[in-house]
Amino acid sequence: MNSDSDLQIAGDILEVPHLLQPPREHPATVAEFVGLARSIAADRSQWEHLVQYDATSRWYHRLRTGPGYEVWLLSWVPGQGSGLHDHGPSSGVLTVLGGELTERTERGTRALGAGSQRVFAPGYVHEVVNDSLEPAVSLHVYYPGLTEMPMHAAQCATAAVTA
Ligand SMILES: [Fe+2]
Repeated sequence: MNSDSDLQIAGDILEVPHLLQPPREHPATVAEFVGLARSIAADRSQWEHLVQYDATSRWYHRLRTGPGYEVWLLSWVPGQGSGLHDHGPSSGVLTVLGGELTERTERGTRALGAGSQRVFAPGYVHEVVNDSLEPAVSLHVYYPGLTEMPMHAAQCATAAVTA
């Protein structure tokens, strides 16, 4: 009987701290990327003073980089939007830090208030718009870092409105 590979711990794991995994310096799972975004969202001193609003072009700022990932801060004045796009080979976590954004996909429209998060895989197509009357701020984590953002043709209903 080979019992070498079976580790069983009876009792409180905190009683055997030498067996605990050390906390990771950088996120490595979807849950950890979501957690990173939440921790940044909760600590406004990390980003609030950096936010700028630009009515003429989209404003964004790279807040942090790590092994294989990037964290971006974006602002949205009322009416600004991303257009319909995907994120190339990148997965991402979108977190609304302030204000309200609207996400449109082929499956429908979703209002994203402060604290809302969306997680997406490569190939996910969406459009993000500030449809509200107040500015909005969002945090975007991309893994791997965003190298392309291919635009997609607007859907018929949108095209009719913007044409
Ligand atoms: Fe996006």
